[in-house]
Amino acid sequence: MSQINRAGIWMSRVAGCGSALPERRMTNLDIARMVDTSDEWITQRTGIKERRIAARGENTSDLAIGAAKAALQHAEIRGADVDLIVLATCTPDRTMPATAVRVQAAIGMHGGAAFDVQAVCSGFVYALAVADNMIRLGQVRTALVIGAETMSRVVDWYDRNSCVLFGDGAGAVVLRAERYTGDAPRGILSTHLHSDGRHEDKIQTDGGVSSTQTAGSMHLAGREVFLHAVVNLAQASQEALTANGLTQDDIDWVVPHQANQRIVQTLGEKLHLPMEKVVLTVDHHGNTSAASIPLALSEAVADGRIKENDLVLTPTMGSGFTWGSALIRW
Ligand code: ACO
Repeated sequence: MSQINRAGIWMSRVAGCGSALPERRMTNLDIARMVDTSDEWITQRTGIKERRIAARGENTSDLAIGAAKAALQHAEIRGADVDLIVLATCTPDRTMPATAVRVQAAIGMHGGAAFDVQAVCSGFVYALAVADNMIRLGQVRTALVIGAETMSRVVDWYDRNSCVLFGDGAGAVVLRAERYTGDAPRGILSTHLHSDGRHEDKIQTDGGVSSTQTAGSMHLAGREVFLHAVVNLAQASQEALTANGLTQDDIDWVVPHQANQRIVQTLGEKLHLPMEKVVLTVDHHGNTSAASIPLALSEAVADGRIKENDLVLTPTMGSGFTWGSALIRW
């Protein structure tokens, strides 16, 4: 599924971004005290050194609200100015209602619409595509797109194959409708979304509301996921470039889903892109699922790497399998 901006009336400009992380840092050494692993193994196989873990009582919505407020401040707008919240999460506070409505109330947005989308690690790009399409249609003018997760709540802390990989956090971007000018326009240039449910068991929880009345805990076929991730991330990246008539040389920054440093490095090699153009946060965030791309975007904007007019590619891949990309002129 693709959406490419070709002389529509509206396009979505990124007006601001922000993030929120729990206070508590969990290092590899902390994990090595719980399961049979080591800092050396985790660092070599994943690049992860530490991750943030939500405190007891600190929920996905708390992180989402923190990221939303930071993004609103960066965009210099109020919550009341927002027409739409699309929140990507696979770890909602409650089964119902959507976590997005908690954010809506907390930021003082009393009109418009707020809802969640669930595409696991691809959730942020899916949410971005939904909001972008609604802006292009003229349905909304200002959207808040959030990726927020407390993955620590679905991790099996006895399973060394998976518990070393994940972390908690949230990131958000504000999108604002702008008239499409046709002359190197800034904003979301394209989105591409894919899924293939034949792989639904490769990363999954062993529970769910309908089947077991519990959230369950996560299991993954790490090596298989790794191989698919490399192929799908490269395909989604190439698809975005081809659709926009661009090559990898035009890209200023790749901000991929942060699952494993080796996956990201292999992606860089496949795209013939130097690692200096790739934003890496997996070392200090771990894999935060839907939050990973907006957390990385916020970090690279805050430290001055991503600047106005930079071309930013965000390939993603996750449970389902789901995968895709957004190409953004910042
Ligand atoms: N510490 C020490 N040893 C471990 C650990 C650990 N934490 N975890 C696994 N091992 C062992 C295994 O038991 C295995 O031992 P064996 O050879 O005696 O059987 C050995 O290490 C090698 O295991 P592999 O799975 O082959 O290791 P690999 O190099 O593939 O790395 C990893 C595993 C890190 C999980 C990698 O495959 C990966 O990152 N996969 C994708 C990540 C993923 O699934 N993310 C889920 C979200 S989807 C996404 O974000 C794209």
